[in-house]
Amino acid sequence: MATLPQRVKIVEVGPRDGLQNEPEPIPTATKLAFIQKLAEAGLTQIEATSFVHPKAIPQLADAIDVAKSLPNAPSLFYSALVPNQKGLDRAIEAGIRRVAVFTAASDEFTRKNINMSVDESIGVFEPVVRAAISQGISVRGYVSTAFVCPYAGEISRERVLDVSLRLLSMGCDEIAISDTIGAAAPCDIDQTVGFIAEKIPVEKIALHLHDTYATALANVYAGLRLGVATFDASAGGLGGCPYAKGAAGNLATEDLVYFMDRMGIETGVDLIGVAAASNVVAATLGRALPSKQWKRLKANAH
Ligand code: HMG
Ligand code: MG
Repeated sequence: MATLPQRVKIVEVGPRDGLQNEPEPIPTATKLAFIQKLAEAGLTQIEATSFVHPKAIPQLADAIDVAKSLPNAPSLFYSALVPNQKGLDRAIEAGIRRVAVFTAASDEFTRKNINMSVDESIGVFEPVVRAAISQGISVRGYVSTAFVCPYAGEISRERVLDVSLRLLSMGCDEIAISDTIGAAAPCDIDQTVGFIAEKIPVEKIALHLHDTYATALANVYAGLRLGVATFDASAGGLGGCPYAKGAAGNLATEDLVYFMDRMGIETGVDLIGVAAASNVVAATLGRALPSKQWKRLKANAH
């Protein structure tokens, strides 16, 4: 059996990816209460919001208010999406110290999502990433539709590698290989992530998985076997991208934490604590969340 990492980092994307896909915005105070509980559960890397056009994602139009009121602790690292210089300016104004630029392996998707081709997005990001780094702000880069695109179909691993290398060479310190519509299975992780991990240090690779077809945890295991030790997840299994047809919730943080606990792999995150954070959102939405572990634990999580 492959030697698996002993410890993994979980990047909590619920406040951003989770809430961006809800039909209605939820109140800023509820978002902050959610983030507070996530931090109490031991999550230290939290993607808090997005500085995108408020018309594109009205659910996160309060980004500046959220970012300015984030709970503070030396161990907490918040990040936020920025699609361009205007987004970076807004993030800096709000005090954010880590940002994420986001492109994809398919032009069809980036055109719908950010109104640019992949090449155009790289051209826009280069000065943005330079400006961020010059001000001491670190940058993550997302590669969406890394396996299957809802508009272009199957994606070649060479294309994913090419976009990843371009993001790294402009200064991104981590590349989130993203299964935007949750279509991948472990064979895809082996083929694509295995291939790029031969050219990019595996410590710089994160897996951002959606769970549309219930393959996300199997894909995590495939990633672990390749040495990947950073996984994105969203409390309760909330999430999806309004610009990717068929994208359902992210891999649920509770399900990921249970899996890691049972595998004896450290996360530093308390399972019940995450369920308590999800309860805050579930109460506001007035509906059940997709996570299996949340369903099991919700009544006992406060
Ligand atoms: P555009 O219309 O092409 O932008 O949108 P533009 O540069 O032509 O500017 C038009 C107007 O927008 C201008 O205002 C700008 O100032 C304003 P006007 O002069 O007309 O009054 N503007 C902005 N306002 C606020 N913040 C900004 C900003 N930029 C321009 N940052 C744009 C292009 C990228 C802005 C738009 O398409 C956009 O915001 N898209 C975001 C879409 C999005 O957030 N998608 C979801 C996140 S990605 C995701 O979920 C995938 C991921 O989870 C990984 C995975 O699962 O695959 C990360
Ligand atoms: Mg996503």
